[in-house]
Amino acid sequence: MCGIFGYIGEKPCASLLLEGLRRLEYRGYDSAGMAVLAPTLSIIKAKGQIAELAKKLKSTTPTGTIGIAHTRWATHGEPNEQNAHPHTCTHERIAVVHNGIIENYHALREYLKEKGHHFQSDTDSEVLAHLIGHFAKDEPDFFIAVQQALSEVEGAYGIAAIKEGRDEIIVARNGSPLILGIGDGEYFVSSDHTAINDHTKDIICLEDKDIARLTREGYTIIDMHNKEIHRDVEKITWDIHKIQLSGHDHFMHKEIIEQPETVANAFRGRLGKTAVKLDGLEEFKDFPFTRIRILACGTSYYAGLIGKYLFEENARIPTEVDYASEFRYRNPILSSDELVIAISQSGETADTLEAIRLAKKSTATFGIVNVVGSTIARQTKAGIYIHAGPEIGVASTKAFTGQVTCLYLLAIELRRRTHPADYLSRREELLAIPEKIKEILSHEEDIKAISKVYARHDNALYLGRGLNYPVALEGALKLKEISGIHAEGYPAAEMKHGPIALIDENMPVVFIATGDEVNYEKVLSNMAEVKARKGKIIAIASKNDIRLTKLADHIILVPKTTECLSPLLNVIPLQLLAYHMAVLRGKNPDRPQNLAKAVTVE
Ligand code: F6R
Repeated sequence: MCGIFGYIGEKPCASLLLEGLRRLEYRGYDSAGMAVLAPTLSIIKAKGQIAELAKKLKSTTPTGTIGIAHTRWATHGEPNEQNAHPHTCTHERIAVVHNGIIENYHALREYLKEKGHHFQSDTDSEVLAHLIGHFAKDEPDFFIAVQQALSEVEGAYGIAAIKEGRDEIIVARNGSPLILGIGDGEYFVSSDHTAINDHTKDIICLEDKDIARLTREGYTIIDMHNKEIHRDVEKITWDIHKIQLSGHDHFMHKEIIEQPETVANAFRGRLGKTAVKLDGLEEFKDFPFTRIRILACGTSYYAGLIGKYLFEENARIPTEVDYASEFRYRNPILSSDELVIAISQSGETADTLEAIRLAKKSTATFGIVNVVGSTIARQTKAGIYIHAGPEIGVASTKAFTGQVTCLYLLAIELRRRTHPADYLSRREELLAIPEKIKEILSHEEDIKAISKVYARHDNALYLGRGLNYPVALEGALKLKEISGIHAEGYPAAEMKHGPIALIDENMPVVFIATGDEVNYEKVLSNMAEVKARKGKIIAIASKNDIRLTKLADHIILVPKTTECLSPLLNVIPLQLLAYHMAVLRGKNPDRPQNLAKAVTVE
């Protein structure tokens, strides 16, 4: 959700900034811009993707060695060049890039207008440039001027600011992630480390209310108590090739194909011979929780719905799942014997973060997160990483299967504590999953052929029962977010309570039909109901299923596994179906309209 990148060092920075923005483009792509001290402030902005900014830079490349840049996902103000960052205060020759939302921007804007500031854009972010300018008028130390300005601001921000005549970048964070890259005589600032990885492996994750000054000689960080603070330098362990396309047309495709490996990464070293080894869970050995509550958004929420099933089925622990955004605004009742689990790929989703902050006032919190060192990972008492590696595709794929794998690990470990004899078979089934995913992926061409039949349809229905109902929701979400086709996920039995009204020969219905005996029979009856209304059926079915051939128009076969692990297999064809439909419709699956990775605004 907006990407910030900045550089200070000895090298001409325009091309470095551009490259940094390319790495961050998945965070937003409706306009981009940069400001370079050359030595006067040189600003270049363009509407649209980074490629448009690159075109402009061909004719005017600023030559300075200090600069800040931004790729935007619009919140306030439509995507156009005027609203693109950096924003400036022309009086004081200041440029600012911002990620987040300034909640009191309206009042600040009115105040600054009265003071003679002229606003150029419709954004909330522009007030930051003018507010800093307002204080910089009387305060020669630019760092202090930024600090004074931020003390007036309500809301979330990650910012980077530069001023003519000052060889420094001032950066600050509150609620939106910001990372420093520590090089040799050069320093970077970025919304995440994918953009820093090319230059240095040494990073510092700033904490909320930190303000830092970067110069060519070094950096200082001041914390919320206005004290200079030491923050640990961490090593990036993600490999550079993981953030390159490596022969794939899109990151989404690469990430779907990576899943045999990423699912294995989620359980590697954790599936002991007699128990699951989860350091994070060990933290709770003196906390006999009797309930679980899961908080998450989007795809992570759907993983949470599967988690509910897994915990209740395996460990018999009552589990509730909440959209983090709903939970935090409804005065929730939390008991101190609940374990609250936050699930998040990015670890930065604003609603999940605030929900977990609220929950931790009453009880213990646990994170299932992908991005190491992210805010949710740090805000929860303990947790486990899913180890999926960087997920660049805006539509979440490998993070989902990593999350479900981790939930399964937790569930079978909680069961093992009362039913140790059941552990081994559950372990063996999980160990077999990566090979089974590979087998499904080997049928990609067949799935692509089915996509061709339906790529021009405008609607689709996804139906599943039990823990394959959330898989249906996830399949529908994947399709609608990247292909532009309207899709709905429903519990299969609910179809006749409403959606059946929509079924005719133009409605493709994707059935997940791999359930246990009871679920399977019921799904078969639901299929018959669709068939009777001439709907088109695509069925995800277990290998050797011959009964379905009479009902389904297309069958995608998946290897057999247990009911609890079936989401890890059934979701793979749905991801491929969505991917190919999007490509066939001429869409870029890595750049879905209006979406961005890591929703750091509420
Ligand atoms: C869908 C998708 C989103 C995210 C949601 C939560 O493909 O990616 O729905 O799942 O924004 O993000 P995280 O998991 O980063 O908290």
